[in-house]
Amino acid sequence: MQTWLKAKRVGFCLSDKKKKKLNLLVFAELCRTRGIEVVQIDLTRSIEEQGPFDLIVHKLSDLMRDATQNDTQSQQLVQKFQDYVEAHPQIILLDPLPAMRRLSDRFQSYKLIQELQAQDKGRWFCNPPYLELATANQSEILLQIKEQNLTFPLICKTRVAQGSSSHDMALIFNEDGLRDVTPPCVLQSFINHNAILYKIFVIGQSYFVAKRPSLRNFAVGQSDQKTIFFNSHEVSKPESCSHLTERGEGDRLPSGPSDRIIQFISQGLQAALGLSLFGVDVIVDNKTSKLALIDINAFPGYEGVPEFFSALLNHMEALLRERERDPQGQGLLANRPGAGRWCRDLPEAWSPAPISNCANGLASEGWEPEEAPTGKRAAESGRFQDFSLPPAGLCQSTCE
Ligand SMILES: Nc1ncnc2c1ncn2[C@@H]1O[C@H](COP(=O)(O)OP(=O)(O)O)[C@@H](O)[C@H]1O
Ligand SMILES: [Mg+2]
Repeated sequence: MQTWLKAKRVGFCLSDKKKKKLNLLVFAELCRTRGIEVVQIDLTRSIEEQGPFDLIVHKLSDLMRDATQNDTQSQQLVQKFQDYVEAHPQIILLDPLPAMRRLSDRFQSYKLIQELQAQDKGRWFCNPPYLELATANQSEILLQIKEQNLTFPLICKTRVAQGSSSHDMALIFNEDGLRDVTPPCVLQSFINHNAILYKIFVIGQSYFVAKRPSLRNFAVGQSDQKTIFFNSHEVSKPESCSHLTERGEGDRLPSGPSDRIIQFISQGLQAALGLSLFGVDVIVDNKTSKLALIDINAFPGYEGVPEFFSALLNHMEALLRERERDPQGQGLLANRPGAGRWCRDLPEAWSPAPISNCANGLASEGWEPEEAPTGKRAAESGRFQDFSLPPAGLCQSTCE
């Protein structure tokens, strides 16, 4: 059993749905065996009375979204949580609220991605152009598309990145199709990527890469095709099986991002946002083999990541130990405001890690959604890594 100077209490502030999905009770039992008590925080009661806490893990994104939409009860609950953590700065918070707010807006996420990718000067990343659309005026939209160099087909996403309707999207193939756009939304050039998406799941200094089905290739440029409306859950979940994700004959399986690239992405985003728990969606341009980051998610579902519990527990223990050693310190990543600096640790020559290096080597045989219907199977086609850097040194030696 882990020995602590003082017994540790960790609060979890999650929706019932998220608790169930994570299997929080099982995790709580695992924590107990390591000398950590898990408390489920009920925001409708006094948080003070439920404390004290050494660390809090939360996912308040839905509440935060409702609060921005003027739901008074959500506003009060978020405010209560915020007041509590501000009044107790010694509590380690996973993750900082401002960073989570930032990721709830796709336009803000894309700005961040663009800044990160710009560090590599176009060597390994392509930046699919995007724009924020606040108007339904067709000629204005066309002007913006030309100015920002967007190319058809376009993918249209809601500006808000949370909630069930945030996954409703449209593929637009011509100028006429722009009538189907409902602002506020984000338009982005569609990148052909042979219908494979790589999901990077980060937990502190560990990460896991899972391969998922994704949208198939479409003809480049304007075409007569009518707008396709779809829900992203139909295309990029482990069990997704849709005509929109069928790979064409001869579409090769792209190589996934190498460990160095993943470290660059993860550490860069951690340095900017101070997040511990997040996911990044990556596609590989089928023409240039360059990578495009198309989505960042705060505290994702970690579906098909069997190591999630052990990685989260290890991360929590590392943070708690650090706090015991240095009670006034800033602590590893937690609570550390985005330093606003980026890691610059990109390899000169990137040799992509072939997917056949993954745990079971399945992937070289191609992606077969019907053979990977469960999280377990999806996990088998992924790989798990530690950054292998001393925590306190994270980013320090690699950032300017
Ligand atoms: N720029 C793009 N080019 C090609 N496919 C894209 C692009 N952006 C998104 N997609 C596809 O749409 C899906 C959903 O997009 P994403 O931005 O990840 O939204 P969500 O928040 O619903 O996960 C992705 O999994 C991918 O299949
Ligand atoms: Mg996504």
